[in-house]
Amino acid sequence: MAKTIKKPAVKKEAAKKTAVVKKEAEPIVAQPPRGMKDILPTDQPYWDQVRRVTEKLSREYGFSRIDTPLAEFSNLFNRSIGEGTDIIEKELYSFVTKGGDKIALRPEMTAGIARAFIQHGMSVLSKPVKLFSTGPVYRYDRPQEGRYREFYQVNYDAFGEQDPILDAQMIQVAARVVQNLGIKAIQIQVNSIGCPVCRKEYKDLLVSYLESKANKLCIDCKRRLDANPLRVLDCKEDKCSQVAASAPQSVDHLCEECRVHFKSLLEYLDELDLPYTINPRLVRGLDYYTKTVFEIWSGSEEGRKSALGGGGRYDNLVKLLGGEATPAIGFGLGVERLIIEMKRVQAKPYKAPKPKVFLAQLGELAKKKSLRLFSELEKNGILVAESFGRGSLNSQLRVANRLGVEMTLILGQKEALDKTVIIKNMTTGEQETVSMDKLVDLVKKKLKTDNVVTYHENHN
Ligand code: HAM
Repeated sequence: MAKTIKKPAVKKEAAKKTAVVKKEAEPIVAQPPRGMKDILPTDQPYWDQVRRVTEKLSREYGFSRIDTPLAEFSNLFNRSIGEGTDIIEKELYSFVTKGGDKIALRPEMTAGIARAFIQHGMSVLSKPVKLFSTGPVYRYDRPQEGRYREFYQVNYDAFGEQDPILDAQMIQVAARVVQNLGIKAIQIQVNSIGCPVCRKEYKDLLVSYLESKANKLCIDCKRRLDANPLRVLDCKEDKCSQVAASAPQSVDHLCEECRVHFKSLLEYLDELDLPYTINPRLVRGLDYYTKTVFEIWSGSEEGRKSALGGGGRYDNLVKLLGGEATPAIGFGLGVERLIIEMKRVQAKPYKAPKPKVFLAQLGELAKKKSLRLFSELEKNGILVAESFGRGSLNSQLRVANRLGVEMTLILGQKEALDKTVIIKNMTTGEQETVSMDKLVDLVKKKLKTDNVVTYHENHN
């Protein structure tokens, strides 16, 4: 009897243990979460090119870099972007921390930048305060080509200027970035969605029109009728597009101030010879916009699946978030979309300078010395390749050949003792032995006479 009682107890213990072990051994999923991806070394030349072009233009147009946290208090986004928007309703990555804070991963950068502008008293700086920012943003969207859950944006924002000349300049910067990346054929779409005063009248008009067509709208748009009627205008569903085609247009219902602002913007764009299309259905998916809104699209039919970038004025956002009333305008470009388009039009990625010198070593002493020699050359701005792990000279020379270097520096046991190095010209095969003290200067001279730029020269 006692035995039968004991047995199940042991089994229970064992079952408990297996349960614990099972939990610990949960397999690692060898991929990131859906809609997120690695950016591999092979793709980095495109990313480098985007970094270089966007940063260069930001400096040329007077922007200073700002970096804000990837996460903010959720209500910053709810307030700025708007409760009724898809980004807030469906796409926000939000969570409560162990300390009970309601936090969200940024679904865009403008709200965080405006928050930082207020927090750090930037309104006292000379205006416009131009800020450049780049980094990942997160939207729980349905992933597809060009649409991810983690993606990168570059953002250019300017605070404190309401003159439409700035709107034109921002559109010009957006176009310059895209074209400097080699995407020459682009389409600039502009619209004005007015200010809160004229937009209210326009919204009423739009809602009464849409209500009269409600039975022809998709389920989402029926819901949008209350929460965000302007978004019905850019719904991709066919039946909604048909309704939107005959809807009243915001540009026809602007107040005098907004009308003049839009007219001046178009005149500035003409002055800049920037071709644009007025798209009366361009309303953007974020609530903070006022007056000017714009998007940059690929100019060719195949590339025109999704916008490369978009932005607009947000004259009321800083005040809405508790700061002094400060007009502002900005735009964001999607880096992945820029790269997809660069590849499609065969635009050139960044080409990093390649080493022209290979350092080969033979024997223990030489191996030790070559580590210091490598850093000596590197400090002097000479790009050097090596294969320290390989023992045989032949296999090292094979690597040097494969890399197509101009010269190989060979350090053997004898050279290490004599404090010399052999320079082998990889084209002619000629070799000369030089003193280690003179090596750096000699290599520099040879690279120059061969008309080869050294690393530093190429970067400055
Ligand atoms: P947005 O139009 O929502 O604007 O995003 C800007 C760009 O980010 C888009 O044009 C697109 O290239 C890219 N993008 C958007 N969603 C995705 C996605 N799921 N996957 C890949 N790329 C995407 C804004 O975010 C505003 N904050 C821009 C702004 C700055 N307005 C004023 N200042």
